[in-house]
Amino acid sequence: MTLPIQIAPSVLPADFSKFGEEIHALDEAGVDIIQFDVMDGQFVPNLTFGPDVIAAVRPYTTKPFEAHLMVYTPDVMAQRYIEAGCQRLIVHAEACTHLHRTLENIRNMGATAAVALNPHTPASTVENILDLVDMVLVMTVNPGFGGQSYIKTMEPKIRQVRDMITARGLGDTVHLEVDGGISPTTIAGAAKAGANVLIAGSALYKDPQGLGHAVTELRALATAAFAD
Ligand code: DX5
Repeated sequence: MTLPIQIAPSVLPADFSKFGEEIHALDEAGVDIIQFDVMDGQFVPNLTFGPDVIAAVRPYTTKPFEAHLMVYTPDVMAQRYIEAGCQRLIVHAEACTHLHRTLENIRNMGATAAVALNPHTPASTVENILDLVDMVLVMTVNPGFGGQSYIKTMEPKIRQVRDMITARGLGDTVHLEVDGGISPTTIAGAAKAGANVLIAGSALYKDPQGLGHAVTELRALATAAFAD
């Protein structure tokens, strides 16, 4: 058994001058989770949200928050993002010298822990920590910016991670998320490869029929294509 399809926005394209309203609009559009793309300007060449920004918009929805920590020092800031209202923290394997300990610490602080893999990082990286996570994120772009093109060559890696999850009997507890370039034309490939949580930024905000239509369309396409 695998977990249901979930559609989650990247908030990078949102209007930050009215961020709270934008979060409410995403809730109304039917997203399952809200992902904050946290960037430190070092691990990736961009700088985004501190914990206080997330805390400020927490009251605008009851939907779960996850912080995608594209940062070199997730251990330093993890507690602050949990206190700000994030239920899940996603750390990059490439940024963690002691990934096993980092994930254990996040769980001990009361959040769920997830690990992200950049395009060059092999699926085998998560083999020894699958028992500590509730999600693996396979990046389908090189992190740092929205609006990039989907890297289709990541689909065999998505399939590898899905098969690892299934082989360990973790299909009903561990999600497989993809992030980057997800749109109506790319989502089926990612879902067919085994992704059940799909992050979309540009595709949501570019839909001329609005956020709600975009979420509904992406969910339908992913559900039809998903293969575990
Ligand atoms: C990492 C960012 C983007 C974003 C998705 O670079 O976190 O992947 O979430 O942006 P789109 O959906 O526009 O590719």
